[in-house]
Amino acid sequence: MTDPEKTATLSYDGKSFDLPVYSPTAGPDVIDIRKLYADAGVFTYDPGFTSTASCDSTITYIDGGAGVLLHRGYPIDQLASKSHYLEVCYLLLYGELPTAAQLEDFETRVTRHTMIHEQMHNFFRGFRRDAHPMATMVGVVGAMSAFYHDSTDINDPWQREVASIRLIAKMPTIAAMAYKYSIGQPFNYPRNDLDYAANFLHMCFAVPAEKYEVNPILSRAMDRIFILHADHEQNASTSTVRLASSSGANPFACIAAGIACLWGPAHGGANQACLEMLKEIGSVDRIPEFIARAKDKDDPFRLMGFGHRVYKNFDPRAKVMKQSADEVLDLLGIEDNPLLQVAKELERIALQDEYFADKKLFPNVDFYSGIILEAMGFPTSMFTPIFALSRTVGWISQWKEMIGDPQMKIGRPRQLYLGETQRDYIDVENR
Ligand code: CMC
Repeated sequence: MTDPEKTATLSYDGKSFDLPVYSPTAGPDVIDIRKLYADAGVFTYDPGFTSTASCDSTITYIDGGAGVLLHRGYPIDQLASKSHYLEVCYLLLYGELPTAAQLEDFETRVTRHTMIHEQMHNFFRGFRRDAHPMATMVGVVGAMSAFYHDSTDINDPWQREVASIRLIAKMPTIAAMAYKYSIGQPFNYPRNDLDYAANFLHMCFAVPAEKYEVNPILSRAMDRIFILHADHEQNASTSTVRLASSSGANPFACIAAGIACLWGPAHGGANQACLEMLKEIGSVDRIPEFIARAKDKDDPFRLMGFGHRVYKNFDPRAKVMKQSADEVLDLLGIEDNPLLQVAKELERIALQDEYFADKKLFPNVDFYSGIILEAMGFPTSMFTPIFALSRTVGWISQWKEMIGDPQMKIGRPRQLYLGETQRDYIDVENR
C-alpha cells in the first residue's frame, strides 16, 4: 500500500519531515502523519475530519464528485435493483456475494434470532408512551448487553459473530416494538415465514383483531430502503461506533452509541425533519419563502434533505430513492400526493438557484425516503428508527473489521488548546 515513489515532505520550524504516502485501490492518496508528533512535536488540526482518513477499510467506497457509492466494489444502484437486503448484509459482513447455500445458511441464522428475550418486553414498558422511538431504541439496544451476556466478549470471534447476527436479526423487532408501544398497540412477534422486510412491515402494521397481508410491492420498496441505508463509509454514526468500540466496549453498547449519533437532524434525523419541512411548506406557492430563509445567513433554517459532506454532484442513493418514490406512489394510486408535488417543485427550484449550485447542494437520500415511508403508513417519528435498523449492518461490519485488526488502538484525538494557561486558585471571598 505504501508508494515508494511518493513521499510528502512537511517543512516546519526550519526542518523537513518526510511522511509516507499510501495509494488506495480507489480515491485520493493518503499521507501518514502518525509519527508527526513524535518526530516534529506538532499536531494536525482538522475539526469535522474534512481531510482526515480515520482508518483503513475495505467495505465501502464513495467518490463524492462522481456520485459513486460501492459496497465491496458493487455499485449501489445494481445492489438496489438486483439484490435484496440480507444478501447485501452478507456482502458487507463477509466481503463477497454469497453462494446460494451460503445465503440460505445466513438467512436461516438471522431468522432464528429475530425474537427478543421475553424479559425485554418489560423493559419497553418502563418508557413513557410518548417517548420518541429513537429514545426507546437507544435504551433497548444498549440494554441488550444486559440480556445477551454470551455475546459481549469482543476477543472471541464466535461471540462477535453471534452478536452481529443478533443485532441484524433483532433490530427490526426492536424498532417495530418501539412503534407499537408508542401507539398503545400490542407487540407482534416476528414471523419467520416472511422475508426480512415483510416481517418488519407485519410487526409494525398487523393487529391481532385483523388479518394483515403484506403487500409485496411495499415490502420490496421497504427492502430497497434498507439496502440504500445499509452502509456509508466513515459517516458520523459509524465513526461513533468505531470510536466507542476502540475502548473495548461491548457491541450492543457501541451500536447504541451509533443510534444516538444517527438521531441528529444533520445525519439520520434529517428524514423526519425533511418530511416535517415539506408539510410545513405545504404548497408550491410557499417554496420561495423557504428558499429565501435557507439562504439567509441570519436564519438557522436549512433545507432538510439537501447537502452532503461528501457528495458534491449528486447522491446516488437519492436517484434510486426518487425512482422508488414514484413507483410506490403510482402503485398506491397517490401519485398526485401534495407532498410529492412540493418535493418535486422544491427540488426543481433549488437546483436552478445560484446559492444551491455554488454550494453544491443537491437532494440527498433523506429527501425522498420520507415520502415513501409516509405513503406506507409510517409516522415521521419512525423514519429515523428505520434508518437505524438498516444501518446496523454497516455499523457491525465496520466494527468487526476494526476489532479483527491486530493493529487496533484506542481512538484518542488531540486538540488545539486555546484556554487559560496554568493559574493559581483564588479563594471565593477574593473573586
Ligand atoms: N440548506 C441551506 N444551506 C446549506 C445546507 C442546506 N441544507 N447545507 C449546507 N448549507 C450551506 C451552509 O450554510 C454553508 O454555507 P456557508 O459556506 O455560507 O457557511 C455551506 O452550505 C456548507 O455547509 P456545511 O454545514 O459547512 O457543510 P457540511 O459538509 O459540514 O454539512 C450537512 C453537510 C449534510 C450536515 C448539511 O448539508 C446539512 O445540514 N444538510 C441538511 C441536513 C441533511 O439533509 N442531512 C442528511 C445528510 S444525508 C444522510 C446522512 O448522512 O445521514
